[in-house]
Amino acid sequence: MENVMIMDHPLLQHKISKLRDINTGTNEFRKLVEEIGILMGYEALRDLPTEDVEVTTPIETCMTPMISGKKLAVIPVLRAGLGMVSSITTLVPSAKVGHIGLYRDPETHEPHEYYCKLPENIGERIAVVVDPMLATGGSAVAAVDFIKQRGGKNIKFMCIIAAPDGLERLHNAHPDVQIYVGHLDRCLNENAYIMPGLGDAGDRIFGTK
Ligand code: PRP
Ligand code: URA
Repeated sequence: MENVMIMDHPLLQHKISKLRDINTGTNEFRKLVEEIGILMGYEALRDLPTEDVEVTTPIETCMTPMISGKKLAVIPVLRAGLGMVSSITTLVPSAKVGHIGLYRDPETHEPHEYYCKLPENIGERIAVVVDPMLATGGSAVAAVDFIKQRGGKNIKFMCIIAAPDGLERLHNAHPDVQIYVGHLDRCLNENAYIMPGLGDAGDRIFGTK
């Protein structure tokens, strides 16, 4: 699928396996989510534009590449996406942060919006949406809809684990969005949880269950 990248780096796969483990506690879970986000962000930001700037080394003056004008916004889908914000701001400290609050109805599994605040001029920024889980795809499609309604054009979506249904739904709804997946899992269960997955990402990051 064009614009879909499923990652296979062994460091990433090792960390995702640790994340899945029911015995991984909140503290380690948070650290792993952040580290995985850094590894994924490194790849997802591979096409950031650079421009040559003049730098004086102890030896001579040279022209050398630095990240150029295009501004970045990282947009977590609340709650679980919050765990991946620091991954992107570690890589690009000047990134602005937007927030989209969505929760899934436990019966219908459809997303409900409760918050949306994006950086100004979102249309002039590269928007990196982060959410560890892409299950039915409802939340991801709604998040990208919000960003586009507010002028966003250049959008990337990063998730740690995806189900095939959700990946297909997001890609079909927004084929222009570049999607980065840490691991593509088997399927969804009757409660629309990813199998084998890692359980409820928000609860595991925030220790709420
Ligand atoms: C989780 C997850 C995604 C969504 C994925 O959030 O972080 O946002 O479910 O499911 P979908 O692809 O079927 O929409 P949840 O709604 O559980 O909210 P939380 O992060 O606040 O726990
Ligand atoms: N949200 C989660 O946190 N986990 C799943 O498996 C599906 C949706």
